[in-house]
Amino acid sequence: GLMRELKGIDVMELELKHRLGIKKAIIVPGNSDVSPMVKSELGKACAMGMKELLAGKNIIAVTGGSTMATVAEELSPELGKKELLFVPARGGIGEDVQNQANTVSSIMSKNTHSKHRVFYVPDQVSSEIYESLIKEPDIHEVLELIQSASMVLHGIGDAITMAKRRKTPSEEMKKIEDGNAVGEAFGYYFNESGEIVHKVLTIGLQLDDLARIPNVIAVAGGSSKAKAIKSYMKQAPSSTILITDEGAARRLLKG
Ligand code: G3H
Repeated sequence: GLMRELKGIDVMELELKHRLGIKKAIIVPGNSDVSPMVKSELGKACAMGMKELLAGKNIIAVTGGSTMATVAEELSPELGKKELLFVPARGGIGEDVQNQANTVSSIMSKNTHSKHRVFYVPDQVSSEIYESLIKEPDIHEVLELIQSASMVLHGIGDAITMAKRRKTPSEEMKKIEDGNAVGEAFGYYFNESGEIVHKVLTIGLQLDDLARIPNVIAVAGGSSKAKAIKSYMKQAPSSTILITDEGAARRLLKG
């Protein structure tokens, strides 16, 4: 459209894709830090991206967060014409109910008239509990679904914002702060070089699993997330499609 051309958004999308070493960048006009409506635009852009990528049968693993919750609101029954099954990507990582992956995945299934599976596992588990939990038939089954996902939808957060929101225990908080974490995704915290400085122990999708998943869509906007996006993208698989806004993109391209 004309608005996009006037703002040079198409050019920025290409530059951002090259800079981050990913498959594609989609930028919506505006800054979601300033206007909540821009977050809905991110959601709409994600729905459009999904529609293009979805094939006949799809298992879609999703993370939590307010951006993913907004994406869920923007999905419509039209998408559900494909056979979709939504599953939470990882166990609880300390979020409030409305931001939890289980909640997001169930709203996505409701809005697309498709199926979902719940995945209730404790936030943090010891290795003994982990070993016995993964043998539980229900949990084992969801884990297998996650491993065979054809698409992952996830958010990216500012590290300190996320750690505080999740009421992270002080010892871990110290690890995150001392490690100069700036970005967070899937419960992993990254410094500016993209190194993992902390990881929330929970069951489900691990960062290494992403490389095997054909479609990975990251949705994150707002100029306050520029550093976070940049840090995570150093670890992200090159198949990643980033859906972001002008606020984040402009700051990213300046740095
Ligand atoms: O992992 C990243 C966070 O879930 C992002 O949360 O979308 O509420 O900023 P947010």
